Amino acid sequence: MISLEHVEKRYSGTAAPAVGDLTLEIGEGETVALVGPSGCGKTTTLKMINRLIEPTGGRILLDSTNVLDQDPVLLRRGIGYVIQHTGLLPHRTIRQNISTVPRLVAWNDERIAARIAELIEIFDLDAELLDRYPAELSGGQRQRVGVARALAADPPVMLMDEPFAAVDPIVRGRLQDQFLDIQARLRKTIVFVTHDVDEAIKLSDRMAILNVGGVLEQFAPPETVLREPENDFVREFVGAERGLKRLALIKVGDIEVDDGPVVSPSASADEARRVIDEAGFGWVSVVDEGELLGWVDRHELEGCATAGEPTPRPFSAYVTARDSLRQALDSVVTSRTAAAVVVSEGQHYRGILTLERISKEIVA
Ligand SMILES: Nc1ncnc2c1ncn2[C@@H]1O[C@H](COP(=O)(O)OP(=O)(O)OP(=O)(O)O)[C@@H](O)[C@H]1O
Ligand SMILES: [Mg+2]
Repeated sequence: MISLEHVEKRYSGTAAPAVGDLTLEIGEGETVALVGPSGCGKTTTLKMINRLIEPTGGRILLDSTNVLDQDPVLLRRGIGYVIQHTGLLPHRTIRQNISTVPRLVAWNDERIAARIAELIEIFDLDAELLDRYPAELSGGQRQRVGVARALAADPPVMLMDEPFAAVDPIVRGRLQDQFLDIQARLRKTIVFVTHDVDEAIKLSDRMAILNVGGVLEQFAPPETVLREPENDFVREFVGAERGLKRLALIKVGDIEVDDGPVVSPSASADEARRVIDEAGFGWVSVVDEGELLGWVDRHELEGCATAGEPTPRPFSAYVTARDSLRQALDSVVTSRTAAAVVVSEGQHYRGILTLERISKEIVA
């Protein structure tokens, strides 16, 4: 969808190019994060795609057409752009700001009003804000308006320069989740810039890690970047806790879980003790026709005839296929049972995850 071929940008009067020789392919419906230190050329790269900055070398193709052969105004209408530090028009209200591109592409009032209603819902903005001016909003509100405005006319391509930088961690997390939701539905082609490695890991299909001069150090899915950083620069950039960050990307459903110690409630207490001793956890799950009833401790079985006789206790936490291994790890380290119990819909028993099993994925 977007293809950068040996792209170069030299600003006049500067010794080194802002972007030297950058080649990057971005697929349709893909979300790519540009990350790297301040001044490495992220904003320059983004702006060359919609021709706010003209490259001094190389080619940029959008949908197989050289952007330099397209009318810049029409080109920009088809590309949503979130400017670093939001860049709202100061003398126009929030409503006017959001409707800018829909008006340019001649949507009628009714359609624009419906779209605005939809966007303020998505971005959790108060309708009261619509008639204010940008200076009358908080930084975080302005930022959300900036993203809403870029999405307004539903462009297939979005360029976003640090879209969530000015909001607190809680709102930021919510916006990121909304972003993932929206993107799962709309599958736009998105290039976004961020300083936050965790944000890039969470939101992108692939991360482009740039060094000063727009040098591409690695371009790969977050999972690969964390597992096999290309070089010391990337290793340092992704920072500590690479293993934990990787666990956050792997779903419980992606790996095989252990069977774990299991008995049915009608099993004899002797049988339950045998299963307990074999597994070595000191407890056993009681499962009745696939449904997990809970767990019993070895000494609770004393004087009982069957495994179901002491009332099985519920596990303090469960994980499902959709949870990440990082959540499963949390469940392991905070539970008394030293294992995370995996269930599917309706408490259907799937198995367990232990620290040992999860560590295998960290080093894999
Ligand atoms: N108009 C300009 N004239 C000369 N040099 C410029 C101009 N705009 C940017 N630069 C230089 O080009 C380099 C890349 O700038 P750019 O804005 O792309 O960086 P960035 O990666 O977006 O940084 P940040 O993370 O701080 O936003 C920097 O060294 C910057 O000083
Ligand atoms: Mg920038």
